[in-house]
Amino acid sequence: MGAGPAGLLLGHLLHLEGIDSTILESRSREYVIERVRAGVLEPGTVATLTAAGVGVRLKREGMHHGGIQMAFGGRRHRVDFEELTGGRSITVYGQNEIVRDLIDAHKAAGRAPFFECRQVRIADFDSAPRIEFEHNGEEYQVACDFIAGCDGSHGICRPSIPAACVRVYAREFPFAWLGILAEAPPSSAELVYALHERGFALFSMRSPSITRLYLQCAPGEDASRWNDCRIWDELTTRLETADGWRPNRGRIVQKNVAGMRSMVVAPMRCGRLFLAGDAAHIVPPAGAKGLNLAVADVRLLAEALAAYYRAGRSHLLDSYSDRCLARVWRAQRFSYWMTSTLHRAPDGSEFDYHRQLAELEYATTSRAAMTSLAENYVGWE
Ligand code: FAD
Ligand code: PHB
Repeated sequence: MGAGPAGLLLGHLLHLEGIDSTILESRSREYVIERVRAGVLEPGTVATLTAAGVGVRLKREGMHHGGIQMAFGGRRHRVDFEELTGGRSITVYGQNEIVRDLIDAHKAAGRAPFFECRQVRIADFDSAPRIEFEHNGEEYQVACDFIAGCDGSHGICRPSIPAACVRVYAREFPFAWLGILAEAPPSSAELVYALHERGFALFSMRSPSITRLYLQCAPGEDASRWNDCRIWDELTTRLETADGWRPNRGRIVQKNVAGMRSMVVAPMRCGRLFLAGDAAHIVPPAGAKGLNLAVADVRLLAEALAAYYRAGRSHLLDSYSDRCLARVWRAQRFSYWMTSTLHRAPDGSEFDYHRQLAELEYATTSRAAMTSLAENYVGWE
């Protein structure tokens, strides 16, 4: 269920194992390809995509980053991932490009997902799972061995699980991000995470001519209240450093507000329904972990299903949830740390702000603290 990165990659990995699957998606093909979201890939994610044969364009167009910059107190401080982690680094490549590559791979294999499915329902997933949906005005039923709930944070799979079967751990943050995509060449070769007294800002990119930027704003903020001039002025104020660095300005081609929350569903399974990606867990985006967790989940799920079909062994299906959740809680810890260190809470005091500055000072000067940041950011083997 779902043609986001989790569903598409799972379907592709299963296909490589000779296991048949059907992908159902409620949105249109164009919508899922054009939806701008994540951009930072851990080396493990790049390795998984490459091994699955969908890394050709990623290798050619992905931007290699050996570290990140943290800006506060008017200065930028570099954290050198490669030096601190024995050569590990991140790759910047848009999530929508991964989705495009995966849809192309499905098409090449002659098995395109069903887009624009309506009235999607799942049933009997504790015994003989069934999915019902409407497509192009026709009613369909799919009988299957398993359902993979890869339908994101607003999907139907998780809410279909009886409350007694799972626990949901959740937390809301009192801020959101206003994100923009701008036709402007990136003025820094690396990401810049900034804490300013007016709040958080993030400088990122998508290509040598496209900059991606984010600003902390109020939850539920109306993006239309931010005209281009106001956005650039605020970004410049929060990001610019005493050495004269600031983001290049350009035409803003996309603008949206995303809320911020953490959520974990445990276990990530109910009978023959397995949850993966955002359907099972949400992390606030400052740690750049959501997409990477989705990829890590479906790699384990594909491996577990392959063992089941190849050797009739269900031990990896049984340990799927525990193995995923170990990584998920690590990612929650790190994302929480990045979020709380880099944002100004609306009810936060000056004391908190100065404590956060001291946290950042330590995180960018102590080798031990920088190593911890680098290890967590590039992800775990
Ligand atoms: P999704 O991408 O949400 O896909 C789920 C799919 O299911 C969707 O296509 C949806 O339309 C479909 N669906 C929903 N309901 C149904 C239904 N009833 N029937 C059929 N289909 C359905 N992560 C990172 O790792 N690094 C980053 O730098 C990063 N930055 C981010 C920045 C922002 C602003 C945001 C919002 C997120 C960011 N993330 C980042 C998180 C990342 O985008 C998500 O974790 C990722 O999309 C999860 O993939 P998924 O396939 O699990 O879910
Ligand atoms: C992005 O490029 O969209 C991006 C980068 C880092 C983050 C979140 C988003 O932490």
